[in-house]
Amino acid sequence: MNDSRQSELTLELNREKFHISEEFLDRYNRPGPRYTSYPTAPVWQEDFGPDDLEGVYAQAEAARTPVSLYMHLPFCESLCLFCACNVVITKDHSSAPPYLTTLKREIEHVSRFVSRARPVVQFHWGGGTPTYLTPAQMEDLFGYAAERFSFAPDAEIGIEVDPRVTSLQHLESLRKLGFNRLSLGIQDFDAQVQEAVHRIQPYEMTRDLIAHARALGFGSINVDLIYGLPFQTSEHFARSVEQTLTLDPDRVALFSYAHVPWLRKQQGAFATHLPEGMEKFRIFRTGLEKFLGAGYQYIGMDHFAKPDDELAVAQRNRTLHRNFQGYTTKAGADLYGMGVSAISGMESSYAQNYRELPRYTEAVERRGIATMRGYRLSEDDLLRRALISRLLCHAVIRKDVLSVEFDVNFDEYFAPELARLAPFVEDRLVEYATNEIRVTLLGRIFIRNVAALFDPYLEKQRLAEKPLFSKTL
Ligand SMILES: C[S@@+](CC[C@H](N)C(=O)[O-])C[C@H]1O[C@@H](n2cnc3c(N)ncnc32)[C@H](O)[C@@H]1O
Ligand code: SF4
Repeated sequence: MNDSRQSELTLELNREKFHISEEFLDRYNRPGPRYTSYPTAPVWQEDFGPDDLEGVYAQAEAARTPVSLYMHLPFCESLCLFCACNVVITKDHSSAPPYLTTLKREIEHVSRFVSRARPVVQFHWGGGTPTYLTPAQMEDLFGYAAERFSFAPDAEIGIEVDPRVTSLQHLESLRKLGFNRLSLGIQDFDAQVQEAVHRIQPYEMTRDLIAHARALGFGSINVDLIYGLPFQTSEHFARSVEQTLTLDPDRVALFSYAHVPWLRKQQGAFATHLPEGMEKFRIFRTGLEKFLGAGYQYIGMDHFAKPDDELAVAQRNRTLHRNFQGYTTKAGADLYGMGVSAISGMESSYAQNYRELPRYTEAVERRGIATMRGYRLSEDDLLRRALISRLLCHAVIRKDVLSVEFDVNFDEYFAPELARLAPFVEDRLVEYATNEIRVTLLGRIFIRNVAALFDPYLEKQRLAEKPLFSKTL
C-alpha cells in the first residue's frame, strides 16, 4: 500500500526499524533554533556596538587565535521564492562596484586588528550569490583581502555558487585564486517544483558545472537540497536525490525548508502547496535513506558526507565543530564576518552587521565597521554552548568532561533539564547512562529538540509576538 495515506510510517536506520506516528511528529515538529550559535541571535543586544567588537578583536589578537574570514556578497539576479537568506535582488550589476568599495573599506579596517602571525585557516564567500560578481571583480576583491591577511598553506577557501550564473571562466578564476571548495545550490531537480519557486535549473547545467570544477581540481564539492518545497512529493524527490547521487558530491546539505513568511513575504505565494507534517517527513526520509544507502555518513541535522571526507572523519574522531557556516573541522578559529548582515563569532562574543544595505554602507563609511548588535557570553552561556555544540557535532555528551572543564557538578547544575529528558528516552531519541547522554540515530533527526532542552532563553522567546524560528522538521 502507498503509505502516503497512512498515519504512521516506518523508518529504517542501520537495519533498525522506527515507527513514526502523526502524534510523534506533532510532539517534535515545533519551532526551534538551528543552533548555529548559542545563545541564538534573537538574544543578542543592540547595546553591543563597534567599540565592543573592537575590544573583542583586541582580545582575540592577544590570544593569537587562528582566523576564519567570512564575506557576505548579497546580490542575486532573481529571487527564488523560498529564499530566507539576506539578499539584494537586482539585474542591474551597477550596484556591485559601490558595495565592493564599502566591503574593502571594512576589510581594511578589520585587518588592522589581525596581525600577520595569525593564519587564516578558513575563508568563505557566501550570499546571496558571490558569482554574481564578474571574474575580474572576484579577483580584485580576493587580491585585496589576500594582501591584508596571511593564509595558512592548507586553508579551506570556499564559495557558494549558483550554477545558473556561474561560468567556466568564474571557476577558472576561483581556482587560480586558490579556492578549493565549492558549494552549489540545487534545491530540487523537479520541473514543477523549480517552476513554483522561480528557479529553473536543469540537471545538465549542474552536472556540467561540477564536471568542470572537478577537472579544474576543486577538492571538495558540496550541494544543497531542500525538502519541504511546494509541490514536492517523496516519489519525485527520490528521483532528484538519485540525480544528485550521479554527481557524486563529497558533502550534501539536505535542508529543511524554513517557512518564515513573517520575515520573507514572498514565501506566502505558495503556502497552500507546501507538504507538511507526515508528508514533509516522508520526503526527508527519502533523502535520508537514499544517502545512507549510497554510503554517506549522516553528520547530523541536515548534513551528509562521504565516509572519507574530513567532516565524517572528524565526527568519528570527535574533532568536529560547528559555526555559522555549519559543521567544520577548524577548531578554535575566531570568525570575522564582513559585509552586509555578516556575523562574527569570537571566543566568547557574537556580533552582527546591519542587515540593510544603506545602513551598512553608512556605518562602514563613518566607522570602518558596521556592528548592529552583539552579545558577550556569560559563564553559564559558555557551558551551555559547549554542551549544545558537542551534542550537535558528536551526538554525545560526557558529564565528567563538562564537569571538569566548567567546574560544576553536572547532575546538580542540569537537574531541571535532566528531569525533562525522560520522554526523549522513551521515544528512543536519547540514551541516558550514568556518565553520558547519547543521541540515537533517530535522535539526530530531531537533535534541535534535544539541544533546545538545554536552552533557557527559549521559554521567553516562545512568548514573542511573532514566531522567531522555523519548525524543527
Ligand atoms: C546563499 S544560498 C546558496 C548559493 C546560491 N545563492 C544558490 O542559491 O545557489 C544558501 C542556501 O540556503 C538554502 N536556503 C535558502 N533559503 C532557504 C529556506 N527558506 N529554507 C531552507 N534552506 C534555504 C538553499 O539551499 C541555498 O542553497
Ligand atoms: S537561493 Fe540563492 S540564488 Fe536564490 S535568492 Fe536565495 S541566495 Fe539568491
